[in-house]
Amino acid sequence: MVKLLFVCLGNICRSPAGEGIMKKIIEKEGLTDQVQCDSCGTSAYHIGEPADGRMQMYAEKRGYQLDSLSRPFNAIKDFERFDFIFTMDPQNFEVVTKQAPSKKHLEKVFSMTSFCRTMQADFVPDPYYRGDEGFEKVMDILEDACGGVLEMLKKNRKLS
Ligand code: 4NP
Repeated sequence: MVKLLFVCLGNICRSPAGEGIMKKIIEKEGLTDQVQCDSCGTSAYHIGEPADGRMQMYAEKRGYQLDSLSRPFNAIKDFERFDFIFTMDPQNFEVVTKQAPSKKHLEKVFSMTSFCRTMQADFVPDPYYRGDEGFEKVMDILEDACGGVLEMLKKNRKLS
């Protein structure tokens, strides 16, 4: 089983969207018994909350259900449990990498946008205080990057 963790700040917009998109791709590929996805936030601002209603709406428009509840990143458990940790922006990347207990754990952390194939983006912009186009952009970037993550898993022979 390959375990993927998507991380943003609040775990109510970007990382639940990443998780939802990736789960759908995994389902379509018939890989649900091989890949597990989860998400969390570097903050504890929204513990227990479902994804932001706007994010849910923009995800639903493209056929994704976001069913996660916000939880904070737990360095001790999450670095052990997950094989790949994808951060949405440089702030999340820094918070997560700083807590890596070893080089082996540090090497599990990747910038989500490094898996983009067609979108030009250095990070996934926080849509929380932005309008509709912010949420559409999050979906555009994440759909592209999640496709890239699948390619990477196939290339690295993480799947059978
Ligand atoms: P997310 O968006 O990190 O993509 O879940 C945010 C959600 C809430 C806040 C910031 C970003 N907040 O400050 O409450």
